[in-house]
Amino acid sequence: MTDCQGDGEAAKSLMELYEKLTAQGDKIRALKTAAAEKAEIDAAVQLLLKLKMDYKEMTGQDYKAGCPPSENSVVPNNGPAADGDDDDDGDTVDPWNVSSTNAKGVDYDKLIVKFGSSKIDKDLVDRIEKVLGQKPHRFLRRGIFFSHRDMHQVLDAYEKHQSFYLYTGRGPSSEAMHVGHLIPFIFTKWLQDVFDIPLVIQMTDDEKYLWKDLTLEECHHYAVENAKDIIACGFDVNKTFIFSDLDYMGSSPEFYRNVVKIQKHVTFNQVKGIFGFTDSDCIGKISFPAIQAAPSFSNSFPQIFGERKDIQCLIPCAIDQDPYFRMTRDVAPRIGYPKPALLHSTFFPALQGAQTKMSASDANSSIFLTDTPKQIKNKVNKHAFSGGKDTVEEHRKSGGNTDVDVSFMYLTFFLEDDEELEKIKQDYTSGALLTGELKKILIETLQPMIAQHQERRKQVTDEMVKQFMTPRPLNFKA
Ligand code: TRP
Repeated sequence: MTDCQGDGEAAKSLMELYEKLTAQGDKIRALKTAAAEKAEIDAAVQLLLKLKMDYKEMTGQDYKAGCPPSENSVVPNNGPAADGDDDDDGDTVDPWNVSSTNAKGVDYDKLIVKFGSSKIDKDLVDRIEKVLGQKPHRFLRRGIFFSHRDMHQVLDAYEKHQSFYLYTGRGPSSEAMHVGHLIPFIFTKWLQDVFDIPLVIQMTDDEKYLWKDLTLEECHHYAVENAKDIIACGFDVNKTFIFSDLDYMGSSPEFYRNVVKIQKHVTFNQVKGIFGFTDSDCIGKISFPAIQAAPSFSNSFPQIFGERKDIQCLIPCAIDQDPYFRMTRDVAPRIGYPKPALLHSTFFPALQGAQTKMSASDANSSIFLTDTPKQIKNKVNKHAFSGGKDTVEEHRKSGGNTDVDVSFMYLTFFLEDDEELEKIKQDYTSGALLTGELKKILIETLQPMIAQHQERRKQVTDEMVKQFMTPRPLNFKA
């Protein structure tokens, strides 16, 4: 497969459109030959023009009679959406489903090829280190943020003292957040500190209302509650704006204008191809991607950026959000805005194994931010999938497998010291370190981390939340 095909659905409708165009051309010729009424010919020509415009919008190319659309002409520059399951690799990655049939988890190198993004290779990590003059975050050193779009361009601009801003978000579907939810925020906080730039955080309470069986009030309440956990990650109030879509959409004409511009430039066919929507999905879902796209453009936030529409946006997010931003990058130049750059993370595995990401609805699948030290200990001991051997004897003899061991995976996310981590890996692989001992190291890493988070969250007052969530100028020098 090439890297630009749409999924089957969109490609099929593109072919249908092409055939309609051909038929319409034939019809007009027939009408002319038969010297039909001018009004009838005009109407047929009008329809032909409309079909031609649809075709151009879908493919970015002009319709040419006799040249059927090629496989990769749906949404230029766009990888497949939802990667579906059509290539039989057992991995599914889209905004609503993440799963793999492999115990090591999703094959991320393959995902880069499928999505058409770029790998965060050693060169890029080294360059970030050079530009910043400091050690890159462990998420970069360890390939947890593994893929990007246009990051070199962001660094080029930064070196020329051109500023940029960060955008990330969260869909607030319950009060319960787990450690996996913090990954993008921990990383974004680091980016904000090292680059000293503004950040906008979108709470998509509207999205959760459209997708889940929840009331508007519940979704909005979760947005505010989740904002407290996000604030507890240590964001600087002078550089951070957190907004609920339900509140901000109605209060900002500039934001809504961008939503409408995006809506005008993306067809139903395109979102069907990208997100797999069907005719029976409610129209709220169909237009929602425009709302997640809008914060990628700086003039959606005039209180921060004034009228500037050219400030580059960098979006740290988990790779399952990429379909939204492929769409965003596709429309950006057509509405006169720069394309947002992206940094993609892998998924935080469930305790039960890397086949799935964690679920907020299964208490035993994850470590929650509200867990007590005892709960953490029990969950890790009872539920963390082990790559160790069944008996101590066997383990000592042939060692454990860190590729599938969830405790080890968690340590790669949270243990800061590279040498310590490497030593653990060697000892576990050789059999010198037992599963119980590995789990103990993880428990002792998580307990203080979660306790500190809970302490910081307690300090977050309603007044502070209000401040973060009020549209206002931020520290920003263009
Ligand atoms: N759709 C995301 C979710 O369900 C929330 C979100 C909105 C987001 N904007 C974003 C995530 C930008 C990452 C980056 O969690």
